[in-house]
Amino acid sequence: MARTPVIELKNVTKKYVLGTNEIDVLKGVSLEIFAGEYIIFFGPSGSGKSTILNTLCGLEPPTTGEVIVRGDNIAKYNEKELAKYRRDKIGIVFQQFNLIKSFKVWENVAFPLSSDGVPIRRRKDRALKILSILGLEKMAFRRPMELSGGQQQRVAIARALATNAWIIIADEPTGNLDSRSADDVMTIFRLLNQKSRRTVIMVTHNPDYLKEADRVYYVRDGLIAKEERKRHTSESFDEVKDIEDLKSLVFHDDARDEKKDKKKKK
Ligand SMILES: Nc1ncnc2c1ncn2[C@@H]1O[C@H](COP(=O)(O)OP(=O)(O)OP(=O)(O)O)[C@@H](O)[C@H]1O
Ligand SMILES: [Mg+2]
Repeated sequence: MARTPVIELKNVTKKYVLGTNEIDVLKGVSLEIFAGEYIIFFGPSGSGKSTILNTLCGLEPPTTGEVIVRGDNIAKYNEKELAKYRRDKIGIVFQQFNLIKSFKVWENVAFPLSSDGVPIRRRKDRALKILSILGLEKMAFRRPMELSGGQQQRVAIARALATNAWIIIADEPTGNLDSRSADDVMTIFRLLNQKSRRTVIMVTHNPDYLKEADRVYYVRDGLIAKEERKRHTSESFDEVKDIEDLKSLVFHDDARDEKKDKKKKK
C-alpha cells in the first residue's frame, strides 16, 4: 500500500513584490515527507530554506502550487483550522529561541496549551514534566534570560513538545549555540525522531549534521537541486510516542553547572 506523505509540496512557487521589484524566492518546489522521517534542508544563505519551512507549516501561503497535509490541501483550511494545524500538529524551534522574556520558563513551555482550555494545573504539570526530561527542572521557575543559550534552546524545544506535535520543524536550531550545546540539541532531535517517532524537519548550515538525516534536500536558488537518501526510515512510524516515554536526559550544560555548584560549596 502506498504511504501517504505527512506533508507534501506540489510545485510551490513564492514571489515577493517589493515596490516595482519581484523576487522569485521559490521557483517550483515539489517534495514529499513521510511520517517518522528526519529531513534536513541544506543550502546557501538566501536560497529559500526558511521560506520552504514557513510554507510547510502554513505560516506563508504559496504564490502558486499546493501544500498537502495528510492528503488535505491546507488552502481549504479556514483560519481556525490553520491555527489548529500549526498549534497542535507542528512544533517550531527557531534559531533565536523566541522565548517570552517576562514569562517564567515553565510558563513559556505551557503557553501553546493555553488556548486549549486545559486547566492551569495540568498545563503546569505537563510543562514541568517535559522540562525535567530535558534536564531543566531546576530552571523551571527562572526567567529565560537567566539561562545559557543551550538551555534556552532546550526550553524552546520543550515548548514545541507541549502539545505533543507529530512534526518538529527547526530552522537552524543550533545557529546561536556553542558546539557542545549544539551537540546536546542535536541529540534531542535524534531521540525525538528515533524514540518518540516524531517527524523532524530541520534547516542547518552545518555539514557535520547531514548524517543525522534520513534524507537531505539540497536547496539552491529557490529550487531543490538534489535529494540524497542517507538511510531508510523505519516503517510503522504512524503513531508518535509521547515525550514522557523518554528517560531524563543529561546535557553538557548540567555538568558545567554542577561543577560551578561544587566550586561554590567549597
Ligand atoms: N518577507 C519577505 N519579503 C521579501 N523578500 C523575502 C521575504 N522573506 C524572504 N525573502 C527573500 O527570499 C530569499 C530567500 O529567503 P530565505 O529566508 O528563505 O533564505 P534562507 O535559505 O533561509 O537563507 P538563510 O540561510 O540566510 O537563512 C532571500 O533573498 C530573501 O531576501
Ligand atoms: Mg533561513
